[in-house]
Amino acid sequence: MSASLQQVEVGGAAPYRIHIGPDLLHNGPLLVERLRGRHALIVSDSHVAPLYADRVEAALRQVAPELRIARHVIPAGEAHKTLDNFGAAIDALAALGATRDACVYALGGGVVGDLAGFAAACWMRGIDVVQLPTSLLAMVDSSVGGKTAVDIPQGKNLVGAFHPPRAVIADTTALRTLPPRELRAGLAEVTKYGAIVDAGFLHWLEAHRDALLTGDDATLATAIARSCAHKAAITERDPFERGERALLNFGHTFGHAIEAEQGYVDGLNHGEAVAVGMLLAARLAATLGMASRADAETLRGLLLRFGLPVDLPAGLVPEALLARMRLDKKAQASGLRFILWDGPGAAKIVPDVDEAAVLETLRAGR
Ligand code: GLY
Repeated sequence: MSASLQQVEVGGAAPYRIHIGPDLLHNGPLLVERLRGRHALIVSDSHVAPLYADRVEAALRQVAPELRIARHVIPAGEAHKTLDNFGAAIDALAALGATRDACVYALGGGVVGDLAGFAAACWMRGIDVVQLPTSLLAMVDSSVGGKTAVDIPQGKNLVGAFHPPRAVIADTTALRTLPPRELRAGLAEVTKYGAIVDAGFLHWLEAHRDALLTGDDATLATAIARSCAHKAAITERDPFERGERALLNFGHTFGHAIEAEQGYVDGLNHGEAVAVGMLLAARLAATLGMASRADAETLRGLLLRFGLPVDLPAGLVPEALLARMRLDKKAQASGLRFILWDGPGAAKIVPDVDEAAVLETLRAGR
């Protein structure tokens, strides 16, 4: 095993380990470490499967020749995180004859991880899933913490389940083939951890900006491990988002509304929408007397230097975004609830946010 392997433990009722390091998708013993049964379904997408599915399947076959393995490949992109594709993944499990001890290997970015995880959560009321994230965003956020879901036209992630993985195996070598735009999108979620719980991390990110943007393996691995440690700590204390886990949604109420309004095609990707959303949430916080405007501008500078968008895309209508937010599952019956910034390394869950202040922030953010 590589000397540079890093591990993060996630405790709680269903503990698991996050492994971070180079060449892990070749590592058969690690891939089967928590395997229980004789069936494995590799779920991937049309971009990632041609790059990595053969190597994962070969590594599995080498260490577990008795394993019955099938592949299920979905079209790449958020627009395909649908109930129809969820149904197709269930059909693939049925065709494999997957028993209750089967394992789904979710090989890809956040779309694959969410959809494959949801299929694992539902097949026979729950089978194992091992997350094999290949994008930075999936490595630092979506593969960890057990949230699984698909989108419906009314909004993102509205149908899903909490279903923790058996393990997360983040092969940092995969980041070398990640399009630069996807790398930057992942850096938005990395920045989020600094913003909400770790002011020192924000300084570290600023100092290591060039190494991160050029894809330096060791620097990325450090950023991933630090992000995962924060996510592990929070999700361990609050696995079902009854309290502090909601802080991880900083920037997401605005971000999800932007994504939904853009229809998940040809618009901002998730990380980009979160970048715009974090800045809007920081500015809304400033309007409400929390974080200072200067802090919001500092955050803006870091996001810009990561090559991320910070303005609302042209053509989006503030009133329509507000209507989307009312449906967001983070809203509550009593009114709009936001995660607002309280300055570097601090965030707060704020219920009943004044809709007029939200509209003002959206209008100013164009
Ligand atoms: N991405 C937010 C969470 O996992 O809670």
